[in-house]
Amino acid sequence: MKKLLTGALGILLLAVAAAALVQAGCVDVAADTPHSPLVYRLIEWTRERSVDRQSQDVAPPANLAEPERIRRGAGNYDAMCADCHTAPGREDSELRKGLYPQPPDFSRRAAESGDSGRENARRFWIIKHGIKASAMPAWSRAGVDDEGVWDLVAFLKVLPGLSAEDYRRQVESSDGHRHGGMNAQHSPPPTGADRHPSASAHEPIHHHPAHAH
Ligand code: HEC
Repeated sequence: MKKLLTGALGILLLAVAAAALVQAGCVDVAADTPHSPLVYRLIEWTRERSVDRQSQDVAPPANLAEPERIRRGAGNYDAMCADCHTAPGREDSELRKGLYPQPPDFSRRAAESGDSGRENARRFWIIKHGIKASAMPAWSRAGVDDEGVWDLVAFLKVLPGLSAEDYRRQVESSDGHRHGGMNAQHSPPPTGADRHPSASAHEPIHHHPAHAH
């Protein structure tokens, strides 16, 4: 009984000390100061266990390697992801340099990392739902449907093997920035008006005329 009380008191003291540190503003939230290795591992562990559990029932479609999927994914990747995750032939972006955690560079990541069914389900879940307190958005909130998410997963599988020229060709052959998946395939070819009204917001930020360091 005495041991139990001492243990409970110890935990209480730790909680009070932690709250005092937070209240005093001693926990650094700056994105240019990395987490301690322990905190980093804890966050990583939490993220991977959560994604793993919640993506258990996600079943990748059989046609992930279909060129049509990859073609559709290319334009959306270029418009919505490349500023953070980079692309072949593209300089590391200012946005990516400043982010913490830093978004993985999919143009250089080994192709085999995206090959297993589990990894595809994991990527689907992350793209659809995003990751809290990181810069990774929940693309379902931006109107990307499940088929559109699978198109992106399909494109991520081929991306690391693409040269800058092949990448450009894939993006140009794509329908550009469209949120639909399979259904968009049956729509008429894109015109200027078909594109997302905010497409200009995806221009690389260093093209802004008033941008000076
Ligand atoms: C504003 C920046 C930003 C944009 C835009 C963005 N991401 Fe991310 N993404 C991140 C960050 C940051 C992480 C890492 C999150 C973490 O480690 O907790 C991430 C992680 C991921 C992961 C998990 C990587 C892994 O293997 O651990 C996938 C998959 C992903 N993003 C896909 C995409 C796709 C596809 C798009 C475009 C539709 C996209 N992201 C757009 C910032 C971004």
